[in-house]
Amino acid sequence: MSENKGPTETTGDTEFVEFWNEILVPKFIKFKHILVDGLTHHSDAIFPTLKVKKGDNVLDVGCGFGDTALKLADLVGPSGRVLGIDCCDAFLDYGRKEERKKNQGNAYFLRGDVISMPFEGDNDFVFSRFGTMFFPNPVAALKNMRTALKPGGTMTHIVWRTPEDNPWLYMAKEIVLGFLPPPGEDARTCGPGPFSMADKELVTAMMTAAGYENISFKRVDAPVLVGKTVKDAIDFQLTLGPAGEVFREAGVQAEEKRVEIEAALGKAIGEQKKERDGIVMASSSWVISATNPT
Ligand SMILES: C[S@@+](CC[C@H](N)C(=O)[O-])C[C@H]1O[C@@H](n2cnc3c(N)ncnc32)[C@H](O)[C@@H]1O
Repeated sequence: MSENKGPTETTGDTEFVEFWNEILVPKFIKFKHILVDGLTHHSDAIFPTLKVKKGDNVLDVGCGFGDTALKLADLVGPSGRVLGIDCCDAFLDYGRKEERKKNQGNAYFLRGDVISMPFEGDNDFVFSRFGTMFFPNPVAALKNMRTALKPGGTMTHIVWRTPEDNPWLYMAKEIVLGFLPPPGEDARTCGPGPFSMADKELVTAMMTAAGYENISFKRVDAPVLVGKTVKDAIDFQLTLGPAGEVFREAGVQAEEKRVEIEAALGKAIGEQKKERDGIVMASSSWVISATNPT
């Protein structure tokens, strides 16, 4: 089903929401095969242990293409419901389409900005896979996510650990920075960025400030696909993520050095591990869980 349930939609996009819709949507869709498969390793590792039961109301925040929302809908069953929220309708349409195919009738997708959405406090569980690192005011967003929870409800979010633990994103940035300047202070961005929640102490302080209790961290390491071929992987790195940002912001200068940059990336990527589906590299996340006070 695709009709909306739960909080009403917000209007008036922030510069970050505009950036997601205008710049990142087509790039994420182009590399959906790398993103969804790779990110799934990190959620599959903890899905069997999630505090979700039949009949629960669940929110999936920054749900992207909606695959985790639909898996959560399987966990809550027909007597529960899952609401997937994202600021890009173009992503949500994938979830809506899949839901129609499955026809379970317990998953809904709504466009909204997590910072300003008026939540109702009727959820047993709030989830986010690699969403919270991009929310521009993380404490306000985490706090708003908490207001979506019933007293005693649980929130679990998955975020990247340090750049050094995630060579699948970081190696290419270092290589590209050998040819191009870092993005300037005024660069348009998608929010704080993929490594903004890597520091355990900082995130604990953010979550405490947002009113959560019983905050715990679990490390998950997983090899992720970076491309079906070396060419696919180079294209992915120059389009998305930290290397893609450097390349995009450098504009004409980047295009002038494209051949050299692609050669350097090709050499480094060619030395990575090859598996049946393509080239894989190491990645590492935190699965962070906490509760809303009773
Ligand atoms: C890295 S993607 C992760 C998507 C999905 N959870 C997954 O794991 O495949 C981050 C998602 O957060 C969404 N997002 C970013 N800022 C947002 C905001 N302020 N409110 C709602 N969604 C937001 C983006 O549109 C994007 O789909």
